[in-house]
Amino acid sequence: MITAKNIHKRFGQVEILKGVDIQVERGQVVSIVGASGAGKTTLLHILGTLDSMTPVEGSSLIINGIDVKKLSANKLAQFRNEQIGFIFQFHQLLPEFTALENVCIPAFIKGTSRVKAVDRAKELLDYLGLSHRLDHKPDMLSGGEQQRVAVARALMNQPSVIFADEPSGNLDSESAQQLHQLFFTLRDAFQQTFVIVTHNNDLAQMADKTFTMQDGRIA
Ligand SMILES: Nc1ncnc2c1ncn2[C@@H]1O[C@H](COP(=O)(O)OP(=O)(O)OP(=O)(O)O)[C@@H](O)[C@H]1O
Ligand SMILES: [Mg+2]
Repeated sequence: MITAKNIHKRFGQVEILKGVDIQVERGQVVSIVGASGAGKTTLLHILGTLDSMTPVEGSSLIINGIDVKKLSANKLAQFRNEQIGFIFQFHQLLPEFTALENVCIPAFIKGTSRVKAVDRAKELLDYLGLSHRLDHKPDMLSGGEQQRVAVARALMNQPSVIFADEPSGNLDSESAQQLHQLFFTLRDAFQQTFVIVTHNNDLAQMADKTFTMQDGRIA
């Protein structure tokens, strides 16, 4: 699903990623762990095409068979919308929109009809146990509910892979555990692939594969 080779990232003179190789198969839940400042978020943003790598010889990033370096800016935005989902530590839901509307947004960007988008969003929110929260705005939801809305939003366009950066970092331990369980349920039900940056040992232990980052490299 993802083959990343020799990923480098330099900010000015400082080399933050020093040649990272990562392979992720379809339906795997992969975790990335490591000390603060090791480069986990930087790597996740590059894998998720939110940020570009510093070009060096032999570097490549293939996601679902697509060489993302070869995509124009427009095609890359479309690729990201259709193939990639994101879950962040702080839900990043739009405050003035309801749960249902927030989940619909990726489909609206894709050009899905309103009726189809709303149907799928309701189905997802129902699946995630939130059918009674459709019209709630983010500040009327608990932290765990906000993150489940973010999960529904990430799933909306049936992405090839979902990237999550400390998705349970802001949750109490019970909500965190439920969220982690949900990732594995989604993997088992839909073969959904996840790449998750986490400081949570339980989640890292449950993952099919764990990459430990140390000073810009996979240890
Ligand atoms: N835009 C930027 N410009 C300059 N330096 C940056 C930039 N983004 C990140 N860095 C630096 O890159 C290093 C790695 O940052 P990154 O956010 O990837 O770490 P992390 O492993 O996610 O840490 P944490 O666990 O604290 O989230 C840090 O030293 C950080 O200061
Ligand atoms: Mg980080």
